[in-house]
Amino acid sequence: MAIDLHRMAVLAAKKAHAPHSNFPVGATIVTSDGRTFSGCNVENVSYPEGWCAETSAIAHMVMDGGGEIAEIAVFAPKMDEITPCGGCRQRIAEFGSPKTLVHLCDAKGVVESITLADLLPKAFSKL
Ligand code: THU
Repeated sequence: MAIDLHRMAVLAAKKAHAPHSNFPVGATIVTSDGRTFSGCNVENVSYPEGWCAETSAIAHMVMDGGGEIAEIAVFAPKMDEITPCGGCRQRIAEFGSPKTLVHLCDAKGVVESITLADLLPKAFSKL
């Protein structure tokens, strides 16, 4: 990783609005054309209305004109190796490819890098 996605995801997690779960999460995308976008989870007192860090990062990318997710790093300070939830795997797939690399991080760095194909086998796609 030329760009320090781990560090960016750690910084993103510090911005989390997670007063209900007390489980901050940060995520940072790098697109195939080299742009980076970070996001954090944003919770709501009406619990189902919150959303995930990956979703925030994707929204930032879309607001910048969209793109293809080449890599995404995910970090949660309270978990050794967070993996994106099922819904976020599908959202990453919307803008990624089977080769998209998902970096699962802890506080020190990337613990494991896994392809989206391995993380979301037999993904739904109408294409
Ligand atoms: N969360 C994420 O931000 N990303 C994930 O991939 C898993 C879960 C958030 C949602 C909620 O705000 C908190 O973590 C606890 O589930």
